[in-house]
Amino acid sequence: MRTDIDQLLTDMTLAEKLGQLTMAASSYAVTGPVIAGDSTQAIKDGTIGNLLNMIGAGPTHEMQRLAVEESRMRIPLLIGLDVIHGHRTLFPIPLAEASVFDAAMWELTAREAAKETAADGLALTFAPMLDVSRDPRWGRTAEGPGEDPWLCTQIARAKVRGFQGGNLASEDAVAACAKHFCAYGPVTAGREYASVDISERTLREVHLPAFVAAVDAGVASMMPAFTDLAGIPMTAHRPLLNDYLRGKLGFDGVLISDYNAIGELLKHGVAADLVDAAALALNAGVDIDMMSDAYRRGLPIALERGLVRMEQIDASVRRVLQLKERLGLFDDPYRRGARRETAEALEKRRRLARNVAARSLVLLKNRNDTLPLAASVPRLCVLGPLADAQAEMCGPWAAAGYEGPHVTVLGGLQNALPNTKIRYTAGVAIADGDRGGIAHAVDLCEGADAVVLCLGEAHNMSGEAASRAYPELPGQQGALAEAVFEKTCALKIPLIVILFSGRPLIVPWLDEKADALIAAWFLGSEAGNAIADVLIGRASPSGRTAITWPRALGQVPIFFGERPSGRPASSKDYFTSKFLDVPNEPLYPFGHGLTYGRCTYANLRAEPASVTENDTITVRVDVTNSGARAADETVFLFTRDPVASVARPLLELKGFARAMVPAAATQTVELTLKASELRFLGPDLAQVFEPGTVEILVGPCADRAQLLSTSVRLQA
Ligand code: BGC
Repeated sequence: MRTDIDQLLTDMTLAEKLGQLTMAASSYAVTGPVIAGDSTQAIKDGTIGNLLNMIGAGPTHEMQRLAVEESRMRIPLLIGLDVIHGHRTLFPIPLAEASVFDAAMWELTAREAAKETAADGLALTFAPMLDVSRDPRWGRTAEGPGEDPWLCTQIARAKVRGFQGGNLASEDAVAACAKHFCAYGPVTAGREYASVDISERTLREVHLPAFVAAVDAGVASMMPAFTDLAGIPMTAHRPLLNDYLRGKLGFDGVLISDYNAIGELLKHGVAADLVDAAALALNAGVDIDMMSDAYRRGLPIALERGLVRMEQIDASVRRVLQLKERLGLFDDPYRRGARRETAEALEKRRRLARNVAARSLVLLKNRNDTLPLAASVPRLCVLGPLADAQAEMCGPWAAAGYEGPHVTVLGGLQNALPNTKIRYTAGVAIADGDRGGIAHAVDLCEGADAVVLCLGEAHNMSGEAASRAYPELPGQQGALAEAVFEKTCALKIPLIVILFSGRPLIVPWLDEKADALIAAWFLGSEAGNAIADVLIGRASPSGRTAITWPRALGQVPIFFGERPSGRPASSKDYFTSKFLDVPNEPLYPFGHGLTYGRCTYANLRAEPASVTENDTITVRVDVTNSGARAADETVFLFTRDPVASVARPLLELKGFARAMVPAAATQTVELTLKASELRFLGPDLAQVFEPGTVEILVGPCADRAQLLSTSVRLQA
């Protein structure tokens, strides 16, 4: 049955309308600074129409009951939660999952997360986060898709499809919320919430494409970033929200402010009071006020003062009601959460979590094939503060109320190797100054066949409000690593380091010393089992870092899509673009990640040799695995436009393909590239397709030295 939204709008009082434009934290979970607390009376009064931070079908249904049975207008609530990388079953953090380079997998984890979310009576998730990050100091790097704008568009599409499913009204679909619109990643010095000031070109080339893709995929809602862009806070950014997003892109979904962001317009220094702030946000196009209580308190006065018009309020209320309608909430507000998920479904999801975790970790280094370990390894020594730290396995955004169980590395290895004698001690804590346990850790190495040393950040050292000026190993972990390294050298046994983090950590020393090094990011509920699967070769490592891994903090921001310098680095010439004290090259390039095979690339060809804008280019390359084990290989396609009206980046990612190449075999991998993807923004920022030669580069990562190159001619 269709809801008569016009009739509702006619019948609603101003207070009820503003209720539909207000989202409050529920009394059931996290509390906030402004209107958290008991919302039950306000729901009955119709003055709160949306909630966040609730879990459990029981509580959500009870709140719905108040809204649809006890409020005058009987409008159901929209209830949302941050489901960033799974809900009950936690998948790898987004930065980790980006490294699987598999759109079907990105979609599948979102689909499964949506099922768990909806089973809790929720109809909205504040995800996906689409902020490009090129600065690992920024803690929210963990929550996003890494450094590359094109990759970000692929993830945006997959995630929106996954969360929303084929039909937004179905019992297992939730509305996605693309965030944070836009350019939150380049905060000054990587410092959380700091001001952003970037060029119009960078905005359009790097930070907007993922949001365009999300709109294209039909995203139901969006959230403006907390930050300002060159002086205009995004929450009040009329040109970008109203004119661009709504006007140019035709986004007709709901714009939900970030938490207290309308109130923060005062601190930004663009609003004198809450009335001003409310008017600025509404005029910019923000529909729902999350946690500022600015709309309820400010808009009635703003109306009187003529700062806003009733039609604007009505338009926002209409969008909110339309979303509730699309979600099927008017038809049946209890649809989500009506059925409990079966134990079988949960079990299947755990298996998926294990599989995606094994595919998300990145094997950064594997000297002399240290890995995989023999499944018959008699004695292992497992060390480090992250080795048996259940609470740390899932990283940021994992505290929605379901506490696990999450499998640690120690647990995973014990499961995988029941006949192996495993000795364990943490040695040091994650972050304090106590070195007291190091000697014992070193002693435990005695008699082991290999040492697995688990180091890194705590789960809350990345994520929101978790910028770090020194993104390195915290506390005394460096000292532990040095002592253990010396011991393993003396004993001549391999040192395998598992590094947990929400960002690339600056660890050149580990790269040099460890025999094997794995970036485990934060892998979720099945972290330990997945790591064990890879360590013993039951799963084959295939993750590729979606962010360039710096060797020194002074290199940051570092990313492969840099534009050329007029004086490119050269060891022969002094006056060139380089550091005196560190190479320009990162520790690991974007796309780096080893497999248990050994692939080489040959015979790159692109057809046809000459194309116009509407053609498609087919690129083929032969990949030979000369290793002793199969390789789950990711093949990247980059382009480079060497002469254009605007200097183009040194490399642009335009595609990837995957190939399972058996040992001692060669496979031809095919990639396609639409010539229209070679368009770019000309000098006046209008799209152009410029005739000339474009290089096509294919290989295992963004290190130019490892790429094969051919070219195609573009003709008008
Ligand atoms: C974050 C958002 C999140 C919101 C609601 C804010 O602090 O910036 O990403 O969706 O809280 O929890």
